[in-house]
Amino acid sequence: MTTTAPQELFLQEFHAEHPAVTAEAFGRGRAPDGRSSYEILCDQVAGSTRVLDLGCGDGLLLDLLAREAGRRLAGVDLSSHSLALARRRPALAGARLREGRAQELPFADDSFDACVSHMALMLMGEIEQVAAEVARVLSPGGVLACVVGGGAVGGEAYELFLTLLRRTIEEAPASQRIPALGDRRTRSREGLDDVLGPAGFAAVGWETLPIDLSGPVDQVWAAVSSLYDLGPLDRATVERLRETFFAEVSDMTTPDGHVPCAFKICLATARLREGVSGGS
Ligand SMILES: C[S@@+](CC[C@H](N)C(=O)[O-])C[C@H]1O[C@@H](n2cnc3c(N)ncnc32)[C@H](O)[C@@H]1O
Repeated sequence: MTTTAPQELFLQEFHAEHPAVTAEAFGRGRAPDGRSSYEILCDQVAGSTRVLDLGCGDGLLLDLLAREAGRRLAGVDLSSHSLALARRRPALAGARLREGRAQELPFADDSFDACVSHMALMLMGEIEQVAAEVARVLSPGGVLACVVGGGAVGGEAYELFLTLLRRTIEEAPASQRIPALGDRRTRSREGLDDVLGPAGFAAVGWETLPIDLSGPVDQVWAAVSSLYDLGPLDRATVERLRETFFAEVSDMTTPDGHVPCAFKICLATARLREGVSGGS
């Protein structure tokens, strides 16, 4: 696979250093009903046999999907380093794990009943091309189910962190800023309808849920500081950000050392209309 897009080169370099970062940071997060965002997505495609994970990373979601017997799983990701971790998972021994771009899926027309994507669709450029490719590889009536980030809940440590991070980035030299990632339309129901409708999908279903990441301050810092924006910042800048965060978060820390922290996810689902066939 070759990519020249600066966004994709950035993602490849970042994940070469941090191949399992999302699963490590957010895998322990829980919705009010006790499920992780990965489990929520998994439940959306219960009963679908042929499932593709778009931007599968280190394979945590595919591993959960593999618990349903008889599944034929596939994953695609830009990062060879993340895929190497996915390939080590015993449950994924039979899965087709491919290094590639969602804009040029390395799979035949009509290959899947469902396509899932956890915290990845929102990073992808040329999003109309991604939508067309997902429509091509899905069978008519197939479902696309995605989790995208929805920002801080508010009044907790993630909101504080984002405020401090914004200030840090404004003060940092341009060379320490990440390239603009993804397409904003993936972050709202209306935007996603604009992208998916022309590719043959019916109206998008949309649900926003809080994911709790509260815990001891070190654990909370480990999660929030895993964001891409910190990648290019120099060590001294990150250390200053950490010190400020630890100082300011103490105001909201409970006497037993518990830091409230939560973020929102948006769960988007859309079905490929029956008359639409792969490649049309
Ligand atoms: C935030 S990580 C999420 C990884 C995994 N889905 C998870 O939630 O644990 C985003 C992943 O999407 C992948 N990605 C981003 N843009 C992509 C593209 N255009 N094609 C394929 N993979 C892409 C990245 O390489 C990265 O592994």
